[in-house]
Amino acid sequence: MPPAVEAAVEGFDVTRRPGLGPLTEAEATAALQEFDAVLTTLGDQFTAAAFAAAGSAPRCKILANFGVGFNHIDIAAAQAAGVAVTNTPGAVTEATADIALTLMLMAARRAGEGERLVRSGAWQGWAPMQLLGQQVSGKRLGILGMGRIGKAIARRGHFGFGMTVGYTNRSAVADPGVPAQAIALADLAAWADVLVVAVPASPATRHLIDAGVLALMPAHAILVNIARGDVVEEAALIAALSTGRIAAAGLDVYEQEPLVPQALRDLPNAVLLPHLGTAVLEVRMAMGLMALDNLRAFAAGLPLPNRVR
Ligand code: 8YV
Repeated sequence: MPPAVEAAVEGFDVTRRPGLGPLTEAEATAALQEFDAVLTTLGDQFTAAAFAAAGSAPRCKILANFGVGFNHIDIAAAQAAGVAVTNTPGAVTEATADIALTLMLMAARRAGEGERLVRSGAWQGWAPMQLLGQQVSGKRLGILGMGRIGKAIARRGHFGFGMTVGYTNRSAVADPGVPAQAIALADLAAWADVLVVAVPASPATRHLIDAGVLALMPAHAILVNIARGDVVEEAALIAALSTGRIAAAGLDVYEQEPLVPQALRDLPNAVLLPHLGTAVLEVRMAMGLMALDNLRAFAAGLPLPNRVR
């Protein structure tokens, strides 16, 4: 039994949900009505409508989210219903930053295309001009969202690849951790060789990277998204990649997961991963235990260590 489940069973009367898919809105409502606490995951539909249907004072008093992103939970509706929400920051940081670098390198060096070529059996052997990509060492790394994950990406870019780091953040960043310049988004888009999206999803960040921002990026630029799909306007990105407006993209997240548009899947210059950001056993265990810490604090009437708001 995974350690977090073991710990949960020890301390709580646990109902484990069969199946792996996210909770539908109706299931989210039922969970709010039936349980004192729910350990939620990506995609569970805790929408305003789900809260409304559960009544003004549902039985559930805490949603302990397994993961840092909580855009599947309507925070205002949770607050109004007296339901606390916690997440698992810290636990996900390094693994998610690693996936950003994986995507950056794969997109820059055309690793997906190369892998597909070998697997297809069509590789004719080394050739001087074959699958030429771009070097990332020493290039400009733009980071949209300089939170924990953004800073971990900046460290990798600066110390690992000697990149010059610039970033856009909604508030001033006291310590970016590496020499880095704060730049407005439009200027960052025009400046960066690699632009990495690391902002949380919210109504304010929806389609922050749209056709207008993509139009400002240099033609050789690479866009990487490890945050949430809807921060990038997917249709505009598909257009930018297919017309050569930008060189490539590396994506771990999509607007309507697990749906990835055929037009995107058809593009050789898009590196596409199935939301692998935290897919490391030790990280998932740490996330589970962190969610459990929040549930334990809740049960003991203590302040919640990772309350989101
Ligand atoms: C998680 C993530 O695995 O932590 C996050 O926000 O995006 C993922 O890597 C997922 O959210 C699990 O709920």
